[in-house]
Amino acid sequence: MGQGARKAQPNGIEVEGLVREFKNGPRAVDGIDLTVEPGEIYGFLGPNGAGKSTTVHMLTTLLPPTAGSARVAGLDVATQGAEVRKMIGAALQEAALDPNLTGREHMKLQTALHGLPKAQRARRGDELIERVGLSDAADRRVGGYSGGMKRRLDLALALVHGPRVLFLDEPTTGLDPQSRASLWAEVTRLSVEDGVTVFLTTQYLEEADQLANRVGIIDAGRIAAEGTPAALKAEIGRPSVEVLPVDPARRPEAEEILLRFGTAVPASGEALSVRLNDGIEVLAAIVRSFDSAGIELASLGLNEPTLDDVFLAKTGRHLEGAGEADSGEMPLPEAEPAGAA
Ligand SMILES: Nc1ncnc2c1ncn2[C@@H]1O[C@H](COP(=O)(O)OP(=O)(O)O)[C@@H](O)[C@H]1O
Ligand SMILES: [Mg+2]
Repeated sequence: MGQGARKAQPNGIEVEGLVREFKNGPRAVDGIDLTVEPGEIYGFLGPNGAGKSTTVHMLTTLLPPTAGSARVAGLDVATQGAEVRKMIGAALQEAALDPNLTGREHMKLQTALHGLPKAQRARRGDELIERVGLSDAADRRVGGYSGGMKRRLDLALALVHGPRVLFLDEPTTGLDPQSRASLWAEVTRLSVEDGVTVFLTTQYLEEADQLANRVGIIDAGRIAAEGTPAALKAEIGRPSVEVLPVDPARRPEAEEILLRFGTAVPASGEALSVRLNDGIEVLAAIVRSFDSAGIELASLGLNEPTLDDVFLAKTGRHLEGAGEADSGEMPLPEAEPAGAA
């Protein structure tokens, strides 16, 4: 470890005031600051056209910044390009796979390209093919691979030289849930077991939420919010609880009970809703209160703030694909309310 003045960690990322302007185009990246800690999975979440790929292209030295600076693994992307490229692996949106080559042939080329000693090439290639679950398809032409298989091969290619920092640009866009889950598992393994820093862009809230240690929300070239998924959601607010009494005549009583637990917020239809003063741990107490008052509920729903709520709060718009936000109705507990009815 260096003992220089910078607190730059061995394989983190530090970005300051980064700008990329295209000729006759937009200011695609409009002055962003961010820090990614070594070994962390950083989720760069934003809609189409937000500036995600442009940022990745600058951080991987494919595109010079118009202004600002970025260090990857302590190295300046503008002046130390060759050194940066030795430290990083990248699976970009436009994967450059040759449909006429097999998976194994791609690995062979890539290991040669990275200068691995001849004796090690085949073993390294096979090991990575195995790790991404492509052993059975290794000798088939890539033209016949599914989207998920191509993404996995692309990931294996990016790992050939054991990079300490990995850039993945929308690695799961268009993948089926199963392929997505297996890619998440491999990315998590790389971070947790190998200490690889992962900078991953996505349009999927769920992906950022579940996979990333920290999330930066990018919109129109600017970072709208940054933090752990939990902190970002907590910033937006506490969860809310919504109930619908079976008997409309008991609404006032139901409201009185609910208001013990939070403050009123708009609800759908005839339902009643409060934003909880505390976390969801009070849910059981709420259910018990309705039980002991003998108020039967047609439904009880818990609405957790989602990253889409965060996006909405920060940008005034919903993120595309926000449909997969994880909030929803909870079925009522099956335990019969003793003595109710
Ligand atoms: N080479 C280019 N020339 C001009 N404009 C570009 C170029 N690349 C990207 N852009 C524009 O920059 C903005 C950000 O694009 P991009 O970084 O690809 O967004 P994302 O990856 O988040 O979808 C978009 O408005 C896009 O049209
Ligand atoms: Mg992109």
